[in-house]
Amino acid sequence: MEFIQQYKPWLDEKESTAVLEYMQGGGYLTEFKKTQDFAQSLAEYTQSPFCSICSNGTVTLIAALIALGIINKEDEVIVPDYTMVVTANSVIMAGATPIFADVERETICLDFESMKTKVTPRTKAIMLVSINGRYPTKIDEIVAYCKENKIFIVEDAAQSLGCWYKGKHVGTYGDIGSFSFSMPKIITTGQGGALITSNPEWHRKIELIKNFGRESAGIDKHIFYGVNFKFTDLQAVIGIEQMKKLPLRVELKKKNYRLFKDLLKDVKEIEFINTTDDVAPWFNDIIVPEVAPLQDYLKKNGIGSRNFYPVLHTQAPYHQTDKYSPNADFFSNHGLWLPSYTQLTEEEIKYITNTIINFYQK
Ligand SMILES: Cc1ncc(COP(=O)(O)O)c(C=O)c1O
Repeated sequence: MEFIQQYKPWLDEKESTAVLEYMQGGGYLTEFKKTQDFAQSLAEYTQSPFCSICSNGTVTLIAALIALGIINKEDEVIVPDYTMVVTANSVIMAGATPIFADVERETICLDFESMKTKVTPRTKAIMLVSINGRYPTKIDEIVAYCKENKIFIVEDAAQSLGCWYKGKHVGTYGDIGSFSFSMPKIITTGQGGALITSNPEWHRKIELIKNFGRESAGIDKHIFYGVNFKFTDLQAVIGIEQMKKLPLRVELKKKNYRLFKDLLKDVKEIEFINTTDDVAPWFNDIIVPEVAPLQDYLKKNGIGSRNFYPVLHTQAPYHQTDKYSPNADFFSNHGLWLPSYTQLTEEEIKYITNTIINFYQK
């Protein structure tokens, strides 16, 4: 069997034909109508009134914070201590200050109790990260609390396209929701990101921020400060094709995760995070007593895997020795992502799970 990678994209002749047709049709490559069509399909899928496409799912977070006016060092933004590093870095890049809170043991998402202890009169927003498509158990309480206390919610839903909660798409519970289309996402355009909101004013600001602050395309009248976070129509052509495949991919993600869970259910060393049927897990995540020996064994047997993210407050830009987040720390040390590409076959999943079973029976 070929080496089973932790992730690889899934493209076929639909994307190559679409790109060829676009190129032969004399497309300008740069952002134009195809990007608008891609935005439209995302808006429809997530049932959001407005959607902007940007270069990636990092600048989207920066643009969201700037659009909300969170740009001063005194503005505090609560960030889970366990997330991809740019959730925190984007706060710094916008000019504000990230404040770390712990995550829940149940979901790896923001812990409401820990969050509340970090709220001060300077708290302007929280970064609500739906890690692996899941929401915190206290999502309803978090949304109500933020509304009551006039704290914005920026949803970093980079990993959550195709995930729902109580009939609404993840990313729509906050004020602005952000997605990523980097290579390992459920749909990919190589790089890419999107922002959804139901607020026309924020949408307008985002459109200005991503396009030099220009009032309208191609006209150098600048009514806000902005840079270049634009997309390209060449990528949008791929995104449009990928969107057509999203419902199938959502089903496959769910099916693969269920199969992993079922085949490993008797391995007492392995813990799965509770996952509802509305969640299409982006990565097949497991919690184990010791990551390194299992990871080495998998590699020797031709299986790729990936460590969970490091706990953020320990990283160089944030090194804060006085902070301790026990749950974030736990996940960072005990989490492993198994192969997770959507097109994994049943045979591959059986090979992976048998290898894991063998490891624990050694
Ligand atoms: C939670 C989270 N936020 C933000 C990002 C950044 O997205 P991008 O790679 O498109 O910049 C990622 C990427 O994996 C992510 O997982």
